[in-house]
This record gives sequence, C-alpha cells and structure tokens, in this order.
Amino acid sequence: METVTWIPLLTLLILCFMAREFLPRIDAEMVNCLDSDKEALMDFKTDLHDPENRLSSWKGSNCCQWQGISCNNTTGAVIAVDLHNPHGSSSRHDFWSLSGEIRPSLTKLKSLRHLDLSFSTFNDNLIPEFFGYLKDLQYLNLSNAGFSGALPPNLGNLSSLQYLDIESLDLLVHNLEWVTGLVSLRHLIMNEVNLSMVGSNWIRTLNKLPFLTELHLSFCSLSGSIPPLTFVNITSLVVLDLSLNTFNSKIPDWPVNISSDVTLDISNSDLFGRIPLGFGELPNLQFLNLAENDNIRGSCNKLLMGRWEKIEVVNLFSNKLHGELPSSIGNSISERIILREGFQDPLANFAT
Ligand SMILES: *[C@@H]1O[C@H](CO)[C@@H](O)[C@H](O)[C@H]1NC(C)=O
Ligand SMILES: *[C@@H]1O[C@H](CO)[C@@H](O)[C@H](O)[C@H]1NC(C)=O
Ligand SMILES: *[C@@H]1O[C@H](CO)[C@@H](O)[C@H](O)[C@H]1NC(C)=O
Ligand SMILES: *[C@@H]1O[C@H](CO)[C@@H](O)[C@H](O)[C@H]1NC(C)=O
Ligand SMILES: *[C@@H]1O[C@H](CO)[C@@H](O)[C@H](O)[C@H]1NC(C)=O
Ligand SMILES: *[C@@H]1O[C@H](CO)[C@@H](O)[C@H](O)[C@H]1NC(C)=O
Ligand SMILES: *[C@@H]1O[C@H](CO)[C@@H](O)[C@H](O)[C@H]1NC(C)=O
Repeated sequence: METVTWIPLLTLLILCFMAREFLPRIDAEMVNCLDSDKEALMDFKTDLHDPENRLSSWKGSNCCQWQGISCNNTTGAVIAVDLHNPHGSSSRHDFWSLSGEIRPSLTKLKSLRHLDLSFSTFNDNLIPEFFGYLKDLQYLNLSNAGFSGALPPNLGNLSSLQYLDIESLDLLVHNLEWVTGLVSLRHLIMNEVNLSMVGSNWIRTLNKLPFLTELHLSFCSLSGSIPPLTFVNITSLVVLDLSLNTFNSKIPDWPVNISSDVTLDISNSDLFGRIPLGFGELPNLQFLNLAENDNIRGSCNKLLMGRWEKIEVVNLFSNKLHGELPSSIGNSISERIILREGFQDPLANFAT
C-alpha cells in the first residue's frame, strides 16, 4: 500500500522540478506588448519591402514575440528593433535584406533603445530626420543600410546614444558640429563616410566627447593637417582608426597622451615627420600601424628602445625609417615589428 502512494508524489515532484526549468521562458512569453507600440510597428511595416518574408511573424496581438522585437518584460514596451541582415557581409548582400521606406511611426516607440538596420538596402534614401526624436536610443546601427546623401544634423539630438555606426560609402557629412550633442557616445563608426567637407577642426569637435572609447574614421576622405590638441579630453579612447585618408600631415603627437590606447591605426594616410618616441611608452598599446606613409622618418634604434610593454604588432612597413633594430631588444619584440614587405596582413600573423 505504501509504495503505491509514493509514486504519484514522486511524479509530482519531478513535474514541479521540470516546470521550474521552464518558468523563465513562460514569464517572458506572458509579457504583452503595449497596444500603441503594436500599432506603431504595424504602420512601420506597411512601407517595408520584405521579399524573403522575414517579417511573417509580425501578426497577432503580442508584438513582443515578433521576429526582431524585444520588450521590457515588466512594462511590455518595445525596447529593441533589430532587423539587421545576418547575411550582410557576404557577397550576396541583397539576399535577406529589407528595403523600402522608413515611416515616422517608428518614433511612436517611446522606449526604443536599440535600433539595428545594418546591411539593409534602403536604396538612395536620406537618413530620416525624425530619427532625432528617438530620444532614449542608446544603440543605432545604420552600417551599410543603403542610405545616401547628407547626414541629418538632427542625429545630434540623441543624447543617450552610446553606439553609432553609419559606415557607408554613400553618406556625406558637411559639418560635424552635431556630434557634440551625443554626450553619451562611446563608439563612433563612420568608416567610408565622405568627410571631405568637415574642415580642419574635426578632431577638436570629437575631443568634446569624453566617453569615447572607439573612433573609426577609415577611408573618410579626410585631408589636410591633423590639428594639435591643447588638452586631450578623449582619454578613454581604446581604438583610434584614421587609416586610408589623405591627410598630408605631420604625425599628430596627442595620441601619446591617451594612455588607454590599445589600437592605433593611421596607416596609408599620407603622414610625414618623425614618429613620436612616446608611442613606445604607451602602457596599453598592442597594435600600432603606421605602414605605407612613405614620408615617415625616424631612427629604428631610438624608437624601439622604448618600453613597448604590451605590444603585439608594430607595423612600420614602407616608411623612411633608418638604422638597425637595437641589439638590446629581445627576440620577442623584434618578431612583432614589421619593417619590410612580405607581411601583407600583419595582424593575422599574430592572431594566436
Ligand atoms: C527580461 O528580458 C531580458 C532580455 O530581454 C531577459 O534576459 C530576462 O531574462 C528577462 N527577465 C525575465 C524575468 O523574464
Ligand atoms: C523596464 O521598465 C521599468 C519601468 O519603466 C524600468 O524601471 C526598467 O528599467 C525597464 N527595464 C528595461 C530592461 O528596460
Ligand atoms: C553594426 O552592424 C554591423 C553588421 O551587422 C556589425 O558588423 C557592426 O559591428 C555593428 N556596429 C556596432 C557599433 O555594433
Ligand atoms: C533636433 O536637432 C535639430 C537640428 O540640430 C533641431 O533643429 C531640432 O530642434 C532638434 N529637435 C529636437 C526635438 O530636439
Ligand atoms: C566627397 O564629397 C565631395 C563634395 O561633395 C566630392 O567632391 C567628392 O568627390 C566626394 N568624394 C568621394 C570619394 O566620393
Ligand atoms: C572637454 O569635454 C568637456 C565636456 O564635454 C567640454 O566641456 C570641454 O570643452 C572639452 N574640452 C576641450 C578642450 O574640447
Ligand atoms: C601630454 O602629456 C604631457 C606630459 O604629461 C603634457 O606636458 C602635455 O601638455 C600633454 N598634451 C596634451 C595635448 O594633453
């Protein structure tokens, strides 16, 4: 008799245990999306062109369960719209990409913090000015999203924005002043954006963003002298990429004052002059790339006597450096210095 009563009890215990495993998922599914946010998304969808039917889940009342949508699971407000094309960087770029028009109804998502439209094909459309009304936005990724023309200065209203990626060959910025409104900005990625019109004060403008940790301005048609800074504000910078511009400038010495710097790439950018010896003393520097600036001068001997504490790669390929590597430096560092041809992808050599 006793064993018979135990069996259902045991089953009940096992069931309870299994239910616990699934509880968090059940909770998340229970969150119901705000009606107003659902309406806004339905309207936003009407002008999107979606040949692969990626938004087929965008029906039914609970928009928190729709593809690409995340909600605050206490309030049900939409906090993220992630429609990036996962096949974006492949050669079949158009495959899976959304196109069409962005409707202003997007701005009705009052709690939106994360918007990713990267690798879409919003062909030849300007970036909408109303993006400036998404005041809670912390992350905006419009990398290679098909937008073109001049960037609207309204983006400077996004004072909560921490990540801005607008990498694209078809965008143009006339004036960078709006960037100073992005007071929370940490990562700024503008590779390939045409910055030829921004004038010589661009670095002084960016120097007003004290939280900046990554700045990517590769292949931006920046030209002219890189101005000196009297005071370095961007002391948290970890990555500075100014490669593939046409500065015709002396090597700036203010990066030497950014002790957090890990990656510094000003390769292939028409720099001249002497390499500041301070680069060798930067305590966190791992990658220094000054390759293919044909008029950079300096003595290997003096430069490489520095401490180079954490250095992984120094790429000085195709510069006018003279002298020998100092005999006092150990093999471990001399293997990390690239002075000659034959190392086309230096970072790959040290990937391990
Ligand atoms: C709330 O949502 C976040 C991500 O959207 C998730 O990681 C977390 O587990 C959720 N919390 C609960 C209690 O469901
Ligand atoms: C969700 O909303 C509540 C109430 O507005 C807020 O306190 C909380 O920080 C939000 N959580 C997320 C993950 O946005
Ligand atoms: C933006 O999206 C692209 C492609 O989806 C990705 O490679 C890039 O890292 C993203 N940018 C940021 C700042 O997260
Ligand atoms: C956004 O920025 C533009 C241009 O900088 C400005 O004219 C406009 O008043 C701002 N709008 C809001 C809502 O702050
Ligand atoms: C950048 O913009 C300027 C001014 O509109 C134009 O003359 C130039 O050709 C553009 N550069 C590139 C690489 O598109
Ligand atoms: C440094 O940053 C602060 C805060 O953004 C700003 O007020 C100040 O003008 C900046 N200094 C320089 C030299 O740009
Ligand atoms: C860089 O640091 C040196 C030494 O600490 C200081 O004398 C110089 O003024 C600093 N330069 C800038 C641009 O902050």
